Amino acid sequence: MSLAQLLDSRLLMVTGKGGTGKTTFASAMGILGAAKGKRVVVCEVDTQRPALPAIFETEVHFDPVEVHPGLSVCNITWNEALHAYLRRSLPMKRLVRMVLENQLIARLLDITPGSREVVILSRVGNLLEEYDLVVVDMPASGHAFSLLDILSTLLTLFRSGPVRQRALELQELIHDLRTRLVFLAIPEEMVINETIETWTRMEGAELIGGSPYIFLNRATLPSLTEEERALIGRLSKVKLDPLRREFVQAGVWEDRLEQATEGAQARLAEAFHMDPVLVPPAGGGGNPRAVVGRVALHLGRMVGVARRELPWT
Ligand SMILES: Nc1ncnc2c1ncn2[C@@H]1O[C@H](COP(=O)(O)OP(=O)(O)OP(=O)(O)O)[C@@H](O)[C@H]1O
Ligand SMILES: [Mg+2]
Repeated sequence: MSLAQLLDSRLLMVTGKGGTGKTTFASAMGILGAAKGKRVVVCEVDTQRPALPAIFETEVHFDPVEVHPGLSVCNITWNEALHAYLRRSLPMKRLVRMVLENQLIARLLDITPGSREVVILSRVGNLLEEYDLVVVDMPASGHAFSLLDILSTLLTLFRSGPVRQRALELQELIHDLRTRLVFLAIPEEMVINETIETWTRMEGAELIGGSPYIFLNRATLPSLTEEERALIGRLSKVKLDPLRREFVQAGVWEDRLEQATEGAQARLAEAFHMDPVLVPPAGGGGNPRAVVGRVALHLGRMVGVARRELPWT
């Protein structure tokens, strides 16, 4: 499946180990979707350290705010998501207030497995009624699993009633072929191991409808020929003056990074049955907004979105 087809999804759930680039990619996909004329919302999920405000230079709240034509951002905060969920499931305002103000129920919700997940997924479902594409910047991979796995648990626990009804609706949403998991990884052994492990677990559990998509971020694209590699190998073993040694050392590093990328690429391709899309380090001086701009530009080339159609690049 091509990257352009990925943009035709309805729901993208972006997941991966901490710091691999989830928020960056969720934002870049949002920008590209909007550039393609879709109404898009990018959401963070009840995070303590929201990253979207720095990227889009705006405050981000539960209710989406439009940051560019067609592109909105929001934060699915737990309290507000619960409020919205109850408003939908309970017939009377008074009841909603009673539930929200009841300490015992609050405790119960805290300890009932899955209540958080269902409430959050339920909000995602609501957003899909208003947007063509919803991009969810998911919590790190382990949590993503429980977020999706919980529905089957609930369907076992609740044999009838509104919880079961909503769980069934959400199950349908997750199994829709236009719902996709997008994995982010970087060429580091631990990260690759965990990414493959998580996906294998999910694949076995048949949690999601569409096939997954995998990006290898911070990938060093191949540039050295076999001869150059061999030469660097030979030169690194001979005694050289400091200046020449420094050059050779730079070559050794480049070779290592390229090999790490190649190894990661091969392992991911085998596990995901697709070649990962490689994204090089973006530069940008560590400024997250600039990095998103550059990543969007890089991916934009693959889906036919020109620089002038993108904001701030
Ligand atoms: N291709 C890239 N080139 C350079 N820097 C990048 C690239 N991708 C991401 N970054 C930077 O790496 C840092 C982590 O990226 P990001 O916040 O997107 O990761 P994350 O997976 O959302 O992290 P967390 O798990 O903490 O939420 C950010 O400072 C981001 O700007
Ligand atoms: Mg993040």
